Amino acid sequence: EELRRESLMIVTAYAAKFFHESLLDTDEGKSIGLSYFKERGFSTEIIKKFELGYSPDQWEAFTSSALKEGYKEQFLTESGLSVKRDNGNLYDRYRGRVMFPIHNFTGRIIAFGGRTLKKDKNVPKYVNSPESDIYHKSNVLYGLYFAKKAIREDDNCYLVEGYADVLSVVQAGIENVVASSGTSLTVEQIKLISRFTKNITILYDGDAAGIKASLRGLDMILEEGLNVKVVSFPEGHDPDSYVRSVGTAAFKKHIDENKKDFILFKANTLLKDVGNDPIKKAGIIREIVESIAKIPDSIKASVFIKECSFLLQIDERALLSELNKMRQAKA
Ligand code: UTP
Ligand code: MN
Ligand code: MN
Ligand code: MN
Ligand code: MN
Repeated sequence: EELRRESLMIVTAYAAKFFHESLLDTDEGKSIGLSYFKERGFSTEIIKKFELGYSPDQWEAFTSSALKEGYKEQFLTESGLSVKRDNGNLYDRYRGRVMFPIHNFTGRIIAFGGRTLKKDKNVPKYVNSPESDIYHKSNVLYGLYFAKKAIREDDNCYLVEGYADVLSVVQAGIENVVASSGTSLTVEQIKLISRFTKNITILYDGDAAGIKASLRGLDMILEEGLNVKVVSFPEGHDPDSYVRSVGTAAFKKHIDENKKDFILFKANTLLKDVGNDPIKKAGIIREIVESIAKIPDSIKASVFIKECSFLLQIDERALLSELNKMRQAKA
């Protein structure tokens, strides 16, 4: 079993090298892949650090090179790099895509995300490696290997949605950033972060899906006993597009000035479309208390009740009794 895992990791390492060299050293890679990354504003330094790549737009460029080098079919298909046809022949999964290798937290490559360069809505934007003995996506955070030292030093971890967000934020000089790429945030991923810090700042996309994911994510983070803040971005922006549009300094300023604790974030987000309807407002207050009820530490929870009471002008005792009811219902 260990041997199988090692064999798989040797194949993915070979693939990463193949894609990276094809990006930097081939005419097709340079004119299509590299120019794409350059247009997106990624520096050569970032491209090299994250070992970005390009998979040639041919049926078997990678597969035949790997077979020629002696890599076994079994590991090519199990890692998802190659796909088996009905007639038994293999072809490349990521044809014509730019490649984002995914490292485990010791720095070994265990999977890939491949982005299409086509604008066609019927083509999936990203294709990710399937689950395998070396890749359990719910246990992996994109960028963690490069971020962990900075996460410890800063005692905070920025959490973004996508590969491109990680790269752009790192390029802006903020190195303590990871993405839950290819899956919605999991408890395992939060536990992984908690080895390095107890503080998470969510930087999700400024669209309905991003707001929904932030609300879900913050409850999960609270439930694990960690502290959570949220920074929103203007509608239509994600951290990557935003830093590119406003520049590094304004991006950092935006983060500093818009970092909200979860109560403020929930209150702002939910109260927006309620106006002065007291019944709806009561429903929102209850939702906020529901989040507070997830905090295992009851002293911390009571501090947040105080804040909530102050912010929304609601009697603290009423909030506390609601909190206790919810706690009892859970127990
Ligand atoms: P987004 O749709 O926000 O993509 O998905 P993005 O990262 O901003 O993509 P760019 O900027 O157009 O390149 C966020 C993340 O969700 C995963 C990827 O990890 C992506 O980075 N995703 C998205 C997929 O796994 N598959 C998809 O088809 C789309
Ligand atoms: Mn396994
Ligand atoms: Mn999005
Ligand atoms: Mn996005
Ligand atoms: Mn994006």
